[in-house]
Amino acid sequence: MRKIYIFDTTLRDGEQSPGVNLNTQEKVEIALQLEKLGVDRIEAGFPIASPGDLAAVNAVARAVKNASVVGLARSREKDIDAVVEALKGAQDPRIHIFLATSPIHRKHKLRMEKAEVLETAERMIKYAKARFAQVEFSAEDAGRTELDFLCEVTALAIKAGADVVNIPDTVGYMTPYEYGNIFKTLKENVPDIEKIQLSAHCHDDLGMATANSLAAILNGADQIEGTINGIGERAGNTALEEVALALMTRAEFFDASTTLHLQEIAKTSRLVSKLTGMPVPGNKAIVGANAFAHESGIHQDGVLKEKTTYEIISPATIGLKDSKLVLGKHSGRHAFREKLVDLGFENLTEEQVNAAFGKFKDVADRKKDVSNEDILALLEEKLVETPEVFALEQLVVAFDSHAVPSATVKLRKEGVVSSHTAEGNGTVDAIYQAILALTNEEAELDDYSIKSVTDGTDALGEVHVVLQQGEYSAQGRGVSTDILEASARAYVDALNRLVEKRKEPARTKRDRDNVTLI
Ligand code: KIV
Ligand code: ZN
Repeated sequence: MRKIYIFDTTLRDGEQSPGVNLNTQEKVEIALQLEKLGVDRIEAGFPIASPGDLAAVNAVARAVKNASVVGLARSREKDIDAVVEALKGAQDPRIHIFLATSPIHRKHKLRMEKAEVLETAERMIKYAKARFAQVEFSAEDAGRTELDFLCEVTALAIKAGADVVNIPDTVGYMTPYEYGNIFKTLKENVPDIEKIQLSAHCHDDLGMATANSLAAILNGADQIEGTINGIGERAGNTALEEVALALMTRAEFFDASTTLHLQEIAKTSRLVSKLTGMPVPGNKAIVGANAFAHESGIHQDGVLKEKTTYEIISPATIGLKDSKLVLGKHSGRHAFREKLVDLGFENLTEEQVNAAFGKFKDVADRKKDVSNEDILALLEEKLVETPEVFALEQLVVAFDSHAVPSATVKLRKEGVVSSHTAEGNGTVDAIYQAILALTNEEAELDDYSIKSVTDGTDALGEVHVVLQQGEYSAQGRGVSTDILEASARAYVDALNRLVEKRKEPARTKRDRDNVTLI
């Protein structure tokens, strides 16, 4: 079967999702999980955007051993030089340069004639090729580029030394027939096309990113670019898990496959959702909570008689475990450890297992059955291991529908415990006012969301917050059987992360917005 290369851009195009701003540690954590998933190429960021972006790409480049690490550059020397700097220490570095080719972009954005686009592309590919063994060139907005001009650009890119030519549907405008036809035309008309890999990069503005990517494969694409959970600019990018599972499930139709370790998909999806703060919709294909749930009686009956009646993919394929072992308050450390292994956490240190067991016992005291989802939520409570400057010790709230709510928070700060009582518009506001007073921090609450981990009134509540402090923004997550406690934990987690962020080189959304993708 033909191998389809997977180019993951979760850390670059995915990070361009509104409100997402990953720090270096988070980028490295995602990159290492992408490596476990077996992606071939990891686009780690856009180094020219800010010193922090450059440092983050460098950290990924040094951490990843089994995938090629890619840095993005506009067709400018200083961008390419920044990628050279950022990819120092990478095992298999690769540069991705782009230049818009469509009439709309040429006229309004670049203010370049066709000849100037060709000359710039050639000069910059050569400049990049003198510095990197592997060069990818993207004809930005290729989907809306005249086909004959796109053939000309592709031929020139090959001559100048590109190893991969990417055909982005930058604005998600294509239909599968049209997008597939671009690949067919390039394959049939461009000299030496077999010397390079052709790549597809789709956006989901009309909900056709996966279908377009598959159409590209049918017409000769060698590489698919996309993100985990389909996150990205506007409506997002091609969801890689959808492409991989389509190829696996319909292998006889596509006669092409990826070399991804599919059983890592669920874990990767959860990690990306957690660190980006972007929830996965319940009905999302492959990784949504309902993707394997059968609600109608007829379907349930069918699945009980024979799974394949209504199930085309087994949940185990993407690493979802259907364990029979239910834990509760009488479960001991041994059963708990077995459960951790079952859920894919076989490499935890003794210290981490003990900490997780403590949290589990806490929940088991308040909740009869502790499900797999509960344990995963507890294990993943902290976004990443941030040094704990502040720790929540105790929370007491007073709510009366006829009085002003108040909250008393006890907080440990560098070993010293202090307490403060504050009032607020609501109980959560009162808690947050008390925490701010105790920490001497100022922060704006940019986002607050709450979801229940499982069904039932005793379910764990998971709160996610985004705090803004001047140019810094940080997310926080808290899990508890009580949503007010979860709210407090999420807030304290975000404050700890703000303290950490202030130590990093400047790398803010605002910085990056100043370097436009032109
Ligand atoms: O969508 C796009 O055109 C891009 C380019 C930078 C490749 O993301
Ligand atoms: Zn894109």
